[in-house]
Amino acid sequence: MLFVDSTVPAEVAAIYAWGVASGVTTNPLIFARESGAADLEATIRAILGVSHGHVSVELTSEDEAGLLSEARRYHAWAPDRVCIKVPFGEVGLRVAHALARDHVATNVTCMMSFNQAYLAALTGATYVSIFSGRVRDTGYDVRPTIQKLRLQLDREGLGSRILVGSIRHAMDVSDALEAGAHVVTVPPPILRKMLHHPKTDEAIAEFNAAWRNRAE
Ligand code: E4P
Repeated sequence: MLFVDSTVPAEVAAIYAWGVASGVTTNPLIFARESGAADLEATIRAILGVSHGHVSVELTSEDEAGLLSEARRYHAWAPDRVCIKVPFGEVGLRVAHALARDHVATNVTCMMSFNQAYLAALTGATYVSIFSGRVRDTGYDVRPTIQKLRLQLDREGLGSRILVGSIRHAMDVSDALEAGAHVVTVPPPILRKMLHHPKTDEAIAEFNAAWRNRAE
């Protein structure tokens, strides 16, 4: 399953028109880069309007009470659609657990290891996010982490879905899915790279030329 990793409503709409996307993820860094000073609520409402499935919105408060009140505010925008992205940590686990108890969809994020994601899954999180590119930046292969995590979730019957983000190359997508990710969230430029293969372009050009040049 693929999600779109973007804060740009027009980009989200363009990818949803392909019929391949089931959700959207955002984070404060891509929001700052792509949407600058735009209003968060207006941007998320615009994304909700052009998509279906969960739209992850990340918390940025520094303490537990702030995180919970921020979560309640975002959740109210679209209770069935907004998924609260909770930064991983001790406080993050408490917040994720409190939200899960209230049946609020959660995406525990910024995780790099099996142990972190396993702890997040035990809270009842809807998604547990592993950051492929950031793990690979440190010289480690992310695939065994995804494989072990998938085996453990299946073994214990835990309901969390493994969401792999921080996708830098088209090949990261197939690697993550092959390793057992339930969902990969992909930036639109990489989704567009997934379209291309030189032999596909060649085959289509050959077929169209043959059709145009056929004998009458
Ligand atoms: C997705 O949910 C993440 O926020 C995102 O993919 C992180 O990507 P980055 O490592 O390129 O910042």
